[in-house]
Amino acid sequence: MPVDFERQGPVGILTLNRPEALNALSLEMLDQLDAVLDGVERDTEVRALIITGAGEKAFSAGADIGAMREATALEARAYAQRGHQVINRVESFPRPIIAAVNGYALGGGCEFCLACDIRLASERASFGQPEVNLGIMPGWGGTQRLARATSPGIAKELIFTGRMCPAAEAHAIGLANHVYPHEELMGKAVALAEQIATKPTWAISAAKEVISLALEGDLRGHLARELDAFALAFTTQDQREGMAAFLEKRPAQFEGH
Ligand code: CAA
Repeated sequence: MPVDFERQGPVGILTLNRPEALNALSLEMLDQLDAVLDGVERDTEVRALIITGAGEKAFSAGADIGAMREATALEARAYAQRGHQVINRVESFPRPIIAAVNGYALGGGCEFCLACDIRLASERASFGQPEVNLGIMPGWGGTQRLARATSPGIAKELIFTGRMCPAAEAHAIGLANHVYPHEELMGKAVALAEQIATKPTWAISAAKEVISLALEGDLRGHLARELDAFALAFTTQDQREGMAAFLEKRPAQFEGH
């Protein structure tokens, strides 16, 4: 199963489980994630949720590049829209969600953990929005949520360069609440989730909803603008070159058209 779910008392643990592709989020995984969230939403015994990645290397390396390589703008828009639906659902989910970032959180993987309420990072974690290296731009909310979680200047630097941001830096810029030795990450995440699970369910859910409003602005309007821009990148030669280069394991040559 590309998405696993287990329950430890009041804590649900959802694991992105496609380690051979660094937990890249295919459409199938997005659908499964949505289905798991349906089950968790119905199960009122689950009072806090942890999301992590299977394997030793990644939380998630983002959207599936192989699935996007030949996409038309409309297909890319549909994929991004599905990403937005699931990620928006995580953000507004009525229970608290902790991202236990155990490795790479790149592109859509970074955007996914940005929608979680709290991010805990392993010392091995690295965050980033490397889409420009593929000839595109972030398309699952990164333009909005990275700027809100850090600052517009930091978001622009990370998105314009596509560079990776190691765990210690992620902590310094507000992307990660805490950084732990790799072996301690899940224990710390479970302990935090258990602590939150002892609190009044309605109050936690209401606080989550209202805290989210603090940064709302016109988030949904700006996300719609991001969808259009992401899809338009798929009309350029640079997108074809960027994704082909990644999959053929060679440096990309961007010609600017
Ligand atoms: N999509 C599909 N497959 C991916 C993937 C992705 N995002 N990331 C990694 N993989 C695959 C690789 O193709 C490779 O598969 P094979 O073994 O079949 O060749 C496997 O996962 C392992 O990856 P690497 O061999 O590349 O592992 P590495 O340790 O050498 O490098 C890495 C790790 C630096 C994270 C590198 O895999 C990488 O740069 N991945 C791409 C990250 C990226 O660009 N993410 C953004 C995707 S676009 C996006 O998310 C758009 C959006 O906003 C929605």
